[in-house]
Amino acid sequence: MKKTFFITTPIYYPSGNLHIGHLYTTTLAWVFANYKKNRKYDVKMLTGADEHGLKIQQKAKESGMLPQQYVDMQVEKFKSLWKLAEIDYDYFSRTTNKEHKEVILNIFDSLLEKGIIYKGTYKGLYSVSAEEFLTTTQAKEKNGKYYHPISEDELIEVEEESYFFKMSLFQDWLLSYWKNNENFIFPKQIIKELENNFLDKGLEDLSITRISFDLGIKIRQNPKHVVYVWLDALFNYISALNYSLENDQDYKKYWENGQEIVHIVGKEITRFHCIYWPIMLKSLDIKLPSTILSHGLIRDSKGIKMSKSLNNVVDPIYLIETYGPEPVKYYLSTQIIMGQDANFDEEHFKLVYNSHLSNNFGNLLSRTIAMFNQTFDQPVKYKENELTDLERDIFKNILETKENYNKFMDEFKIDKAYKEVFHLSKTLNGYIDLTLPWTLKENKERLEVVLNTLFNGIYAVTCFMNSILKNKTKLAIKQLNIEEINFDLIGNWKIFDTTIPLKGKILFERIK
Ligand code: MSP
Repeated sequence: MKKTFFITTPIYYPSGNLHIGHLYTTTLAWVFANYKKNRKYDVKMLTGADEHGLKIQQKAKESGMLPQQYVDMQVEKFKSLWKLAEIDYDYFSRTTNKEHKEVILNIFDSLLEKGIIYKGTYKGLYSVSAEEFLTTTQAKEKNGKYYHPISEDELIEVEEESYFFKMSLFQDWLLSYWKNNENFIFPKQIIKELENNFLDKGLEDLSITRISFDLGIKIRQNPKHVVYVWLDALFNYISALNYSLENDQDYKKYWENGQEIVHIVGKEITRFHCIYWPIMLKSLDIKLPSTILSHGLIRDSKGIKMSKSLNNVVDPIYLIETYGPEPVKYYLSTQIIMGQDANFDEEHFKLVYNSHLSNNFGNLLSRTIAMFNQTFDQPVKYKENELTDLERDIFKNILETKENYNKFMDEFKIDKAYKEVFHLSKTLNGYIDLTLPWTLKENKERLEVVLNTLFNGIYAVTCFMNSILKNKTKLAIKQLNIEEINFDLIGNWKIFDTTIPLKGKILFERIK
């Protein structure tokens, strides 16, 4: 039986168009999903839309549309972006789905029954843009007004009847869970930040219903109460698998009895995923995910936070249409250090495109096949007895790269994993410069060894690249005349003994 791997993106608010930051998150999830498929896991990926809350209600009104009409339109835009980006997924959560609603109401009932929810009055600050409750100490204060510490949007003061979730019951449990489960949160320093900001002061009970607006799931017990969007949204991760519904086989397979469950989130929403989400699951005796992977935020080329009002938002549609989906996904997933913020600069993007994809990987493939086609019409075979130290080093390097690549990918250090791949590709180009195959036309035996070594190296690079460059690597193995991308074949040095590679189209045209 294959091991399972369930990976999720946040479900995005349809209150605006998606930008490069959202594409970044979804790309990461998709690349890890592809990698795990290549490691022969049974993989499922989830993305979706978070369609309730005051902000959406306001946006729909501004657009002169009914909320449902508005979110339907936005969701179509999300889906067409993923299609344009050539990102496929298995589930698309929509919190306006009737099944999702039923799951949330089931959960609310259980929590009430367990005595984990109680009715009270909420008085405090609220961020409409982040849909987040904040205390005055967590907020930034300026001239008597309060602002969100990250987005800097102005906060509103609310006082209303609300149901509360007894978070405080679980504080000690949470702290020890974090301590005992080293890999639960990546990067680890987030734990310190969360402890300092939220747990040291004592975890406050969370208001989980609102009565001052309408757009959301109304509880059965008291329909003027709308479920707090974050509770509503977090449970999408299991409602998509039909948790608590009749046909819950996916929930059983990928969650309850599944091996790995990973949530990818931007760092600004780690509080919800690392504190509230584990507690909510624990309170319902549901298994916790294996890892919450938090990544940094992308800023503009000058390091300024992207925002509509500053008109500095990088549009993913423009990038994909200009450079193609695969180079954009390559850049986003490999050039940003996992967990750290990064600036997006189109010039740097072009540099990486030319250097990594065009000059390095693409050129390595096309010049090797060209040299082969010039001299051979028979396969070049692996001949162990004729290897020199140069080749032995390359073969060793390929196996080490495979080991390191797998290790880093398993640890979600995707930037490090692809540094290894780039390094291997550079080493292979360096090997060409050392062996000068074009001078070996008269020494076919030696040329055969060199080309076979190169092909084996290129095949390994192609396999690693396949988790990102799905289509280009398919073209590459077609040119190499190998049937499949299969990690198990890396190290089987005889795979080129029976194939005749044939030069084809250039994979990546240089860009100016
Ligand atoms: N709806 C909530 C998530 C609920 S999940 C149960 C939400 N939606 S959002 O539309 O605001 O998307 C937030 C996510 O988009 C971030 O967590 C992050 O993954 C991604 N990003 C949004 N802006 C970003 C950047 N500038 N840079 C990188 N990622 C960013 O929060």
